[in-house]
Formats: sequence, C-alpha cells, structure tokens
Amino acid sequence: MRYIVTSALPYANASLHLGHMLEAIQTDIWVRSLNLDSHQAYYFCASDTHGTPVMLKAKELSIKPEDLVNKMKIEHQKTFEDFNINLTNFHTTHSEESEELTLNIFNKLSKNKKIYTEDIIQLFDEKENIFLSDRFVKGTCPACGAADQYGDACEVCGKTYDALDLIDPISTLSSTTPVQKKSSHYFFSLSEFKDFLKKRVSELSDQKPVIHKINEWLEDDLKDWDVSRDEPYFGFKIPGEESKFIYVWLDAPVGYFASIKNWCDQNNHKYEDFLDKDSKLVHFIGKDIMYFHLLFWPSTLHAAQVKQPDEVFVHGFMTIEGNKMSKSRGNFITANDALTFADADFYRYYIASKLNNDISDMDFSVQDFIQKINSDLVGKFINIPSRTSKFIQKYGNSKVLPNSMELIDKYKVEFEKTISLVESRNYSQALKLIMSMADEVNTYISIKEPWTLAKDNNIEECLEVCSNALAIFCSLNVLLTPFMPNISNKISAFLKVDNLKYRDIYMQCINEINEYDHIIKRLDAKDFEGMVTK
Ligand code: MSP
Ligand code: ZN
Repeated sequence: MRYIVTSALPYANASLHLGHMLEAIQTDIWVRSLNLDSHQAYYFCASDTHGTPVMLKAKELSIKPEDLVNKMKIEHQKTFEDFNINLTNFHTTHSEESEELTLNIFNKLSKNKKIYTEDIIQLFDEKENIFLSDRFVKGTCPACGAADQYGDACEVCGKTYDALDLIDPISTLSSTTPVQKKSSHYFFSLSEFKDFLKKRVSELSDQKPVIHKINEWLEDDLKDWDVSRDEPYFGFKIPGEESKFIYVWLDAPVGYFASIKNWCDQNNHKYEDFLDKDSKLVHFIGKDIMYFHLLFWPSTLHAAQVKQPDEVFVHGFMTIEGNKMSKSRGNFITANDALTFADADFYRYYIASKLNNDISDMDFSVQDFIQKINSDLVGKFINIPSRTSKFIQKYGNSKVLPNSMELIDKYKVEFEKTISLVESRNYSQALKLIMSMADEVNTYISIKEPWTLAKDNNIEECLEVCSNALAIFCSLNVLLTPFMPNISNKISAFLKVDNLKYRDIYMQCINEINEYDHIIKRLDAKDFEGMVTK
C-alpha cells in the first residue's frame, strides 16, 4: 500500500511556532511508523504563499511578495529539518505545477457549470484602494452593540453577520471609513454537493467530534463559495480576467498535489501513476481548517473529477501554560527559539506523549516537559544501558549473549499493541506502553543485581541478565524511532545495529555494543528561564 501523507501548508508570512510543529511531528511519526512497518509512505508539504496577509506583510517589509515567500519557504524548510521532520518534498504554491493544476481544476469546474458569476457589494477602502476582507474591517456589532468587532463575527455575543451590517465600520488598514462598492465574483456551487458530502464525511474521518461537527454544518444550508478576489491580490489570475484572482483557499490544497507532482517529475515517477486511485491520500490538519478540507476540498475535486483524499485526520490546538498562544501576551514560542532551549527530539517526545486521536487541545508546560523527559527518557529508558552496558564491556568483551528469546517472546503482544496504537495515532498510549516495558526491564535489573553477580564472580549470569536487558532495550529503541529519530539513531550506533524495521524486533537484534556514552542528558529547569515570559 502506498500512503501519500500531507500536513497543512503553513502560511509564508511568519515563522513557524510550536503549534505548527505539533502537526508536523504528529504527521512525521505516523509516516515514519508506516515505513518501519514495511509500508511505502511519503510525506509532502509546501508553503502556502498566496492571499492578502502575505501581500500586506511584503508591503510592510517593502519587498516583493515573491521575495517574501521565497525567503519564508527556505526558513520553514530549515525549521522542519531541524525538528527531524522527514519530508519527501517541501514545495510552494507559488510554482508552475501549482498554477497548472489549479487552473486545470478551475477550468473543469467552469466547464462542468459548477462555477458561476454574480455581482456582490463589499466594503472598499478608498485610501488603500482595496476591497476589505472581514479581518480588515472593524466596527460595532449589529446584534449586541459591542464595539471593536471584526467583520465576520462578534467575539462578545458570538453572532456571525455580514461585514456590511457592521455599525460604523472602520478599515484596519487605513483607519478610514470604507465605502460600499459592487464587483462581480466567481462562486462555486457548494450547495449542490450536500448529498455527496453527507455520504463522504464518514468515509473521510472516523473521529467522532469531526463527523459530528461536519454533520452539524450539513444540517444547515450550505452557502455557495466565493472563489475570486479583486486586485490588488497576490495569487493566480482567473483565466480571461485582467484584475481578478483565484482565492487562496482554492489553490492552497492544490499545493499538496503540486508538491507531489514536483517530486515525481524530479524522481522519475509518473505523477498520475503515483497518485493513482489505489494510493491512500491522507491529510493531517488542525481543527480550525476542517471546513476547507472536509467540505470545499472534496466537493471541488469531485466536481473536477480528480482523485480525492481518502482520509482527513484532525488534531486540536497547542496551548502554552494553559493559555491560547499569543504573541502579545508572551506565551508564544517560535519553533526556532524552542531549539535554543532543548533538543528537537525532546519536543517530539513530549508533544507525542500528549497526543491521541481526539481533537482536544494539548498543553505545553515547561515544568511538565522537563519532568516528562527526565522521568521517562532518563529515569526509565536510557537507565537500562547505563546500568548494564559496562558489565558487557568489562566481562563480555562487548559481546551480547544470544539467549534472550524467551524474554523477547514475552513482549511480543505488547510490541504489536504498541505498533497498532501508533498506527491509530494514539501516541500517548503507545509511549505509556513502551515506558511500562522499560519499567519492567529496570525492575528485572534491580531484582537480578548484575553488580552483585559480578562482585560474587558469577560472571556468566551477570552477562546473561545484562544481555537480556539490552536485547529488550534494542527493541524498545526501534519502537521509539518514529518519536525521536535522531536519538534513536545514536542509540543504534551504540548497539551496532542499523536500519531495523518493526519486524526485526521480535528476534534478538544485537550482538555487540560500542562504548556507552551518555546519549540522553537530564534537563535542568534553570536552562529554560525566559522561554515563556508569562
Ligand atoms: N495555510 C493554511 C493551510 C492551508 S492547507 C491547504 C493555514 N496555515 S497556518 O500556518 O495558519 O496553519 C497551518 C497548520 O498549523 C494548520 O493545520 C493549523 O491548524 C495548525 N496550527 C496553527 N496553530 C496551531 C496551534 N496552536 N496548535 C496546533 N496546530 C496549529 O491554516
Ligand atoms: Zn455582539
């Protein structure tokens, strides 16, 4: 089975933060695990480059949007690498492939009469010469009278409304009062796809809260979707138009395909054969963009007769010290900053230890992070070789005895269970199980006391106990590889093993060890001062 897996394309207008990494880590663990399980799994992502925020950010920096998105693409790609995210390809939506595939879909939708045009009235900023999207206009809520509310919904009473209904609207771009102006827009007939979507949702997701939310939307009327924007806009021009552009959310998910195509073209694969109907296309996304991935995206692909996703997997949001991430409030950690405090694999391990397959939020707390790493990885996992390897070196000429089968057999069921928990994306439970096995091995060492056996000159049994412990340790290390690939590789070098797959862990896979070096060091709270200011 070929798995083609994606995570949401990060906007190219800002650096990545730890919340973005949650998603990349969750996706990467799944892909790595499938590969260890002898499947073929690939991970594609790209920069999401179009739209108003990117255009305005470039303006603020006095650079061209093209230059901004090129720069951000390089930065994002480097951040992913630094977090040991094993991307097959990281491309950009500002690319030839993306334009070709987007226009193909757009043209098919037009040809199939799923796109029509209609005049609409919107707020227009005469000073900046730009139509204002909901986020760029503020005013008084028409429902409750609360001041300073955005153009789409009121944060005080929760009502949604049309920006035209705001009382005393003000453009956030120029602080002037916008005027109402007419313009012709392109609409996708989403409302026609209700029955299709009703059937499709349960195929795309088996996460109960996701299905519930989508069905709630489907019970209401589906509004047709405005897929065009007037100039000035950074994006793809609508065919036959001079000053109208395709809305970023139509071309963004096509960026998944563009990244796949770009990689296929460079790696001697035929794109159409690679992304064929038998391959399994899986998107990982955050809960804020479900509407786009579970309603718009399948409908547009269905209407354009293009391969659709097979699964959309949704996660919740990362909070920091119990609060929503917020730059102004100081509880905001960029991914690059995080790496100045601790190793990427530690973040991977910690975040995974709090992830499962529901869509609840996950809290990042510095104290808890330090505690978790020290207790699990230092106190349990790496404690196994640190208590046993010296005896193998000193008395066994670094050779591990081949007598551990019975013990490994005892763990067979738990190994299988761990793998299946990872594949169902219950990472927190998988890690708990791995740590409970590590606990058991430590108890075994404590009971057998290899140091006493050595002192009493019972060398044979001392080596046997240490070999048993290291054999299980080796298997646990393979199970931990998707979570902390870099550390696991270092451990593999110490265990003199290479490229082990899941199927190898049911047998003793080590024969010999290298000198033990402290591969995982305890985290110290004083090194984290200033990481979260509030
Ligand atoms: N560009 C769109 C996605 C287009 S996909 C065709 C976008 N970009 S984003 O940069 O805002 O977010 C990228 C992903 O990161 C989304 O899945 C989003 O849910 C996720 N996250 C953003 N903040 C997050 C947290 N605080 N926690 C967890 N995930 C977060 O949306
Ligand atoms: Zn209100």
